[in-house]
Amino acid sequence: MSEKTDKSTYTSSRKLEHLRICCSGDIEAGSSGFDDVRLVHNSLPECNMDKISPAVRFLDYRLNSPLFISAMTGGHPDTAEVNRRLGEAAEHFNIGMGVGSQRAALENPDLEDSFSVVREAAPGAFLCGNLGAVQLREKGAEWADRAVEMIDAQALCIHLNPLQEAVQPEGDHDSSGCIEAISELCNSSKYPVIVKETGAGISAEVAGKLWSAGAAAIDTGGLGGTSWAAVEALRGKDESLRLLGRDFSDWGIPAVVSLIEVCGEGKPVIASGGLRSGIDIAKAIALGAALGGMALPLLKPAMESSGALFEKIRQIQDELRIAMYLTGSVNCAALAGKRVYITGKTGEMI
Ligand SMILES: Cc1cc2nc3c(=O)[nH]c(=O)nc-3n(C[C@H](O)[C@H](O)[C@H](O)COP(=O)(O)O)c2cc1C
Repeated sequence: MSEKTDKSTYTSSRKLEHLRICCSGDIEAGSSGFDDVRLVHNSLPECNMDKISPAVRFLDYRLNSPLFISAMTGGHPDTAEVNRRLGEAAEHFNIGMGVGSQRAALENPDLEDSFSVVREAAPGAFLCGNLGAVQLREKGAEWADRAVEMIDAQALCIHLNPLQEAVQPEGDHDSSGCIEAISELCNSSKYPVIVKETGAGISAEVAGKLWSAGAAAIDTGGLGGTSWAAVEALRGKDESLRLLGRDFSDWGIPAVVSLIEVCGEGKPVIASGGLRSGIDIAKAIALGAALGGMALPLLKPAMESSGALFEKIRQIQDELRIAMYLTGSVNCAALAGKRVYITGKTGEMI
């Protein structure tokens, strides 16, 4: 086996292993802070709940809901069916969706089908490609353009995951030069670049650098949901690796705190990390988010069936609509900035 094939086989089988661990293991850690946030109840909503519209505009695209399917999978033939179901849901509900890291398919084009299946299932949906900042630094705009072309994406997500790389023995432990690579891409690409974290959150300082680099949007990917350190703890081949993963499983900026740190520049922000209901999405929008992303809550039903996934999305949309009604918000613009109470650790941190 050539070194290249060896590497791409490894990247691909790791994607499948991650999917299995996320579906079966206890991999959520930390507190997102959404339990500390309470929307102010409005006893006089003075609107018709059945006429509430959660539709939003994001990067000039009209979406029927702020629910965003966060980046998860692709990169192994066995992930294609899950991606097809997620794509069908994105198309049916007209919601945005990000695919998982396309690195495996960029290393081995035989795996492209596990990503392009999403565009086949979702010809009209807002789709985001996905590439790691470290891969962008190494492979440049050529890989970024190929990732976008592979799924005919409307935007490209560049993911930041220094925590996961740090606790992985095979991880990339050198992240120098990533901001220059992001800046070069933002200044040269024809498509919008969204920079996202993967569960440890983005601070105000990092957000400032990303806006200056030209990011079109930021996806906060805060602490409190899927923890990649916890995933790596379960993957660890020996006790010291497992311990390392456990020690860092609640490292990061809680999702609500990260959202508050990143919002306020008037630029589009996706809240993600530990959002677990339509009520959490409503809270995120009140705090300034444009969209609310979810990964793990959609993965389990997507692994089961299209029916289970559609039902889950309907439930989230219903929760969002009722929360909008009970805050007297006829649309997301009215929900933005609605008063909230912030208590507990979240209140202390902000
Ligand atoms: C199974 C799985 C695979 C993921 N793969 C990727 C990925 O390839 N690229 C990426 O940017 N984020 C990836 N993520 C991170 C999510 O996009 C999201 O930022 C994170 O899981 C927090 O959201 P959650 O708490 O709703 O799961 C993955 C998440 C899950 C659960």
